[in-house]
Amino acid sequence: MSNASTTPVRRQAWAALDQHRRHIGDAHMRQMFEDDPNRFERFSLEDCGILLDYSKNRITSETLRLLLDLARGSQVESWRQRMFAGRPINFTEGRAVLHVALRNRSGRSFEVDGQDVMPQVQAVLEQMGRFCEAVRSRRWKGHSGKSIREVVNLGIGGSDLGPAMVCQALKPYADGPRVHFVSNVDGTHITETLKDLDPERTLFIVSSKSFTTQETLANARAARAWLLDRMGDESAIASHFAAVSTHEEAVRDFGIDPANMFEFWDWVGGRFSLWSAIGLSIALSLGMDRFQQLLEGAHRMDEHFRTRPLDRNMPVILALLGVWYRNFLGAASYAVVPYDQYLRRLPAYLQQLDMESNGKRIDRRGCRVKWDTGPVVWGEPGTNGQHAFFQLLHQGSQWVPADFILAARSHNPVGEQHRMLLANGVAQTEALMRGKSEQEVRREMEEQGLDRERLEALLPHRVFPGNRPTNTLLVDRITPETLGALLALYEHKIFVQGIIWDINSFDQWGVELGKQLASTVLEELRGRPAPRQHDGSTRALIDRLRKGFSSS
Ligand code: F6P
Repeated sequence: MSNASTTPVRRQAWAALDQHRRHIGDAHMRQMFEDDPNRFERFSLEDCGILLDYSKNRITSETLRLLLDLARGSQVESWRQRMFAGRPINFTEGRAVLHVALRNRSGRSFEVDGQDVMPQVQAVLEQMGRFCEAVRSRRWKGHSGKSIREVVNLGIGGSDLGPAMVCQALKPYADGPRVHFVSNVDGTHITETLKDLDPERTLFIVSSKSFTTQETLANARAARAWLLDRMGDESAIASHFAAVSTHEEAVRDFGIDPANMFEFWDWVGGRFSLWSAIGLSIALSLGMDRFQQLLEGAHRMDEHFRTRPLDRNMPVILALLGVWYRNFLGAASYAVVPYDQYLRRLPAYLQQLDMESNGKRIDRRGCRVKWDTGPVVWGEPGTNGQHAFFQLLHQGSQWVPADFILAARSHNPVGEQHRMLLANGVAQTEALMRGKSEQEVRREMEEQGLDRERLEALLPHRVFPGNRPTNTLLVDRITPETLGALLALYEHKIFVQGIIWDINSFDQWGVELGKQLASTVLEELRGRPAPRQHDGSTRALIDRLRKGFSSS
């Protein structure tokens, strides 16, 4: 790391870690476990209903000490304090980053520009509570006097992924109307969703922080047309549409009654917004009490993050391990593998949370960073992933650190299947760590009686290098509280990494260019003249599409 703009302390810590990397070389975790019978005790933490086992990582106590030096040199503690104090740490947009206020249970105030935001947070939670009670108790009637059975959230990115993932993850607790999520501008998404719905019993929630997002507004217009077509009366909108936004005027312009609008604020980033009224679909599905439990779990993790020393701090430890692999051992991606079918949307949610936050290359002073930043995040639930990409995890030419998420108890015990699921999850972390040496493979094949020629030919293919790191996050059961804590853990991990990488984790300028160009291409697809010159490929594609594919 040679960037002159960075602090000397950070430069030193970085150089020391670089040295250490050479020293630790290819030291094998298998050996580390053999040398230290207390490795699990030393490298695990438990709080907020989560046991974090990080002993299967390519680290020693010295690695951790140096990584903690890097965190201190990067002033993680003071940045953490600035975030909780409502300072405008999202400096490119001049905004505070205060999603922690949305789940604050401490009685402390949270100030933005000298004003406590807690009364507004509380007021919106109460409004959500009243609305949910009315809909869930069937007191809220649609235009024709029938109660609501179906809720459709229209939103994209943070206004979709968080609530959709949570509703899926906490399905065993769902006892309200059925919830559906439409995000894609592809008309198939809304068409397929509305196919089986009864308009008289359907409530739409238009969820958009900005209320300008093309996809969401297009789907909202389609939903309105569908409703009016079947109900035939403009006044039906009032009892079938609600909105969640920071922009009351835009909501009013769309024709939604501001009485059905739930506010949130520009100090809540889109990808951190499920804790705000963007979580309305969650509250409608599970009830307000369970939504509050989700917030409670997240708050417990906020307190853990805020008060625990760095070396006993779960988000900090996870962040430092990620930095170790990304910047010193060269891992370009990292996988999240929940051994829980209900968590199947978690990897997609974490993709936005992590990649939209830390997929940046400009530091806080506006210079090109000289080190790697956010990794590619991906994953699928176990055991499905085992039959898809685990081959690469075990024997690929690149190695991928992974988080394994396991719940001791299932919501759906079927025979011995949950034990089988857990056995697979635990065994995979062991296999990735231990591997299988040439000697072990040879012995195994000799015992199987393979002839020498066949044995020698197969031997290299059957060796597992091991030394592939995993974290295991173990909870008793996926409940609103444990899920809240788990999600806050990842939020704070990403925050710490952004501080160490010296980037702004809270803007997302990288999504703008594509949006801009799409609006000019759209004009051309509508048959209007090209407002800009295009390259040969883009021009040819537009031409073909204007002709409806046929080239003649
Ligand atoms: O993809 C960019 C983005 O701005 C995300 O950050 C955000 O979550 C999403 O679009 C949706 O934005 P909005 O809630 O304003 O419709």
